[in-house]
Amino acid sequence: MHSFHYHNGELHCEDVSLQTIADTYGTPTYVYSANTFRDHYTRLDAALSEVDHAIEYAVKANSNISVLRLLAELGSGFDIVSGGELYRVIKAGGDPAKCTFAGVGKTREEIEYALKQGIYCFNAESEAEVVFIDKVAGELGLVAPVALRVNPNVDAKTHKYISTGKSENKFGIDFEFIRDAYGRAAKLQNIKLRGLQMHIGSQLTSVTPFIEAVEKVAPLAADLKGLYDIEFFSIGGGVGIVYDESLDSGKPEWWANQLEDKRPLTIEQYCAGILPHLKGLGLKILVEPGRYIAGNAGVMLTRCLYEKKGTAKTFKVVDAGMNDLIRPALYEGHHDIAPVREPADDTTETVDVVGPICETGDFFCQNRPLPNFDEGDVIALLSAGAYGYVMASNYNTRGLPAEILVDGSESKVVRPRQTVEDIVAAELV
Ligand code: LLP
Repeated sequence: MHSFHYHNGELHCEDVSLQTIADTYGTPTYVYSANTFRDHYTRLDAALSEVDHAIEYAVKANSNISVLRLLAELGSGFDIVSGGELYRVIKAGGDPAKCTFAGVGKTREEIEYALKQGIYCFNAESEAEVVFIDKVAGELGLVAPVALRVNPNVDAKTHKYISTGKSENKFGIDFEFIRDAYGRAAKLQNIKLRGLQMHIGSQLTSVTPFIEAVEKVAPLAADLKGLYDIEFFSIGGGVGIVYDESLDSGKPEWWANQLEDKRPLTIEQYCAGILPHLKGLGLKILVEPGRYIAGNAGVMLTRCLYEKKGTAKTFKVVDAGMNDLIRPALYEGHHDIAPVREPADDTTETVDVVGPICETGDFFCQNRPLPNFDEGDVIALLSAGAYGYVMASNYNTRGLPAEILVDGSESKVVRPRQTVEDIVAAELV
């Protein structure tokens, strides 16, 4: 999180004070760093330079149209998972011809829309889906570009809810069946086999499972190229971020103490591990990073409402809840917490930071030593740029947070806070 740092006693995003943002726009609020998005995209692009490649940013990680626009301007393609995401990409000025369409349950409407927009490829996850895409394409008098997603049965060693490449997961076609599935798909009239796809899971912090998967699947990709003249092999996303990439230089002790995962997987190590297995294929290599691009490009600001000291614990009640950032509740996800006003010293207090939602799982940390902050103070939940706002909900009839994009010394509201009137507007009585 190089673009988030203390300056003049306040945490900044690039050149903008997060205290000023909180005071101006209120809390909870997501703040994104445009230059971090650019930096991550450019680093990945450079690390892949020795192969013909394309970056398909996984829109699901952060789908704000201004974010998509800045990635489109860098030349990014997009991995979408719904018609809605394709609509956003087009609104952002992205090119449908650079879009891949993932997901196990595409509907007729979504397939028709994507076909009419001329997407680059459907990544189909079952034979039934391929047959259906063929039917819909035939009815429209079009030919659908299709890749099949192979499930390589490799253990990604990540949280069970975000592991996707094992046979017991719902994703993709089993490695044992995939050759026959290609054989049958090749006979369909309205399908053009364009590639092969896989994605083994998210938040991987070691390169080993990626290497295991590409070693297993690359020979298949080579065979499919010979048999069906496919042009690409997509190795999916999944590169984990170090939820402590924050402040490598001069981490205060209280900050270092809350780090959960100190194993870095740099994008350069990732590419160095996998590219030797991919270089000789003569195929275009696609990657679908979401978290790597967006995770450390955003924080969520929230204000402390009350402090409550119980017999067992001290609770800091803040104005954001699990409806605003669900990762701790859903995946036991760790987010570093930093007070926006720089702590005067390294003293800490062990606290739970909790939200206002009526659920016991509504916490951002438990029993974590944090520097003191008081009622009215603003804290930042770091590494919240991916799977943050996009997973927020109106639970407890709470409006969605605001989103702010910072670029150098400029900050602009890229989505205003949702009001209660917005929430109920579509309801009929
Ligand atoms: N490609 C496909 C087919 C995917 O399903 C995903 C993520 C990605 C690419 C991007 O993966 P990434 O590079 O971001 O790891 N909400 C969870 C993560 C869910 C990931 C879903 N699929 C979380 O907050 O940890």
